[in-house]
Amino acid sequence: MINKDEIIFVAGHNGMVGNAVIRELNKNGYSNILTKDRKELDLTNQNKVEVFFKTAKPKIVIDAAAKVGGILANHENPYDFLLINTQIQNNLIQSSFKNNTETFVFLGSSCIYPKFSKQPIKEEYLLTDELEPTNQWYALAKIQGVKLCEAINRQFGKNYYSLMPTNLYGPNDNFDLHTSHVIPALVRKFHEAKVNKSGKVVLWGTGKPFREFLHVDDLASSIIFSLENKINHNLLNVGSSEEITIKNLALLISEITEFDGEIIWDENKPDGTPKKLMDSSKLFSLGWKPKIDLKSGLQATYEYYKSTLK
Ligand SMILES: NC(=O)c1ccc[n+]([C@@H]2O[C@H](COP(=O)([O-])OP(=O)(O)OC[C@H]3O[C@@H](n4cnc5c(N)ncnc54)[C@H](OP(=O)(O)O)[C@@H]3O)[C@@H](O)[C@H]2O)c1
Repeated sequence: MINKDEIIFVAGHNGMVGNAVIRELNKNGYSNILTKDRKELDLTNQNKVEVFFKTAKPKIVIDAAAKVGGILANHENPYDFLLINTQIQNNLIQSSFKNNTETFVFLGSSCIYPKFSKQPIKEEYLLTDELEPTNQWYALAKIQGVKLCEAINRQFGKNYYSLMPTNLYGPNDNFDLHTSHVIPALVRKFHEAKVNKSGKVVLWGTGKPFREFLHVDDLASSIIFSLENKINHNLLNVGSSEEITIKNLALLISEITEFDGEIIWDENKPDGTPKKLMDSSKLFSLGWKPKIDLKSGLQATYEYYKSTLK
């Protein structure tokens, strides 16, 4: 067990993941949590990060800070995605190392794995084939972070490790239709179609691809689990191991939002990769399992979305 009054710095606490991590730490009685807004501490600024670490001396760092975005944003800003993400993580990892942070949790995403990876995707498939070109900039930055943690462990015997979450959803998600992921986009589209009585919702593709989802609170619980159980792995996948087609996901969300119109599939639009499922059996075998089933997670997410409209 770790001391509940250990100093823990959560980087990116205002984001969807950072928020969930803070809630979970509070729920579990951790009393010494440090946060810094971007205005107070720009994590791309190495000097400022170092000054902060010299004074704060966190024992544990959870890195939920990143420049995050969808395919379009990645495509239009490759330099930003590669540079800013490597700067943030390198500054945090380097200052953690210099200031004796014992444990560093680095968060990546399933896009670090090859585009045509065997399914379900195991941790050892990293760097075995080509990346998806559209988000390769972001993926490369994340791979560099994974490898930097692994290198510190190898060279200095540290406990810096990476968790790779599958597609996340939940409170504080991004509901902007231009930049959002599939779940917040569907929640918003169905809600607006219901309220505007438009009678139909047009969705991209055939609805046939399978996807895996995890509630962000489950990710947060996996992070606390990894800390409390001092896991000894460089890289662990964190998923639900359950797949759903986009079509069934849309039906489920239409039911939850009480949309009773027609769903039209625009098959001229791309489907994306047909299947993307992570193999999270390593983490499961250590004793962690997700607790929030998709339906109740989606219901709670819809309630959250409605609360943001008030
Ligand atoms: N969302 C998903 O589906 C998903 C899936 C898998 C993995 N992940 C991973 O989880 C992590 C967090 O994702 P998220 O969805 O929580 O993203 P998010 O909501 O965009 O949060 C990112 C946070 O990082 C902060 N940040 C960015 N640049 C900064 C800078 N220069 N200085 C200080 N703070 C900065 C942001 O601050 P501001 O609030 O000031 O912008 C924000 O609080 C990422 O590493 C991502 O790869 C997410």
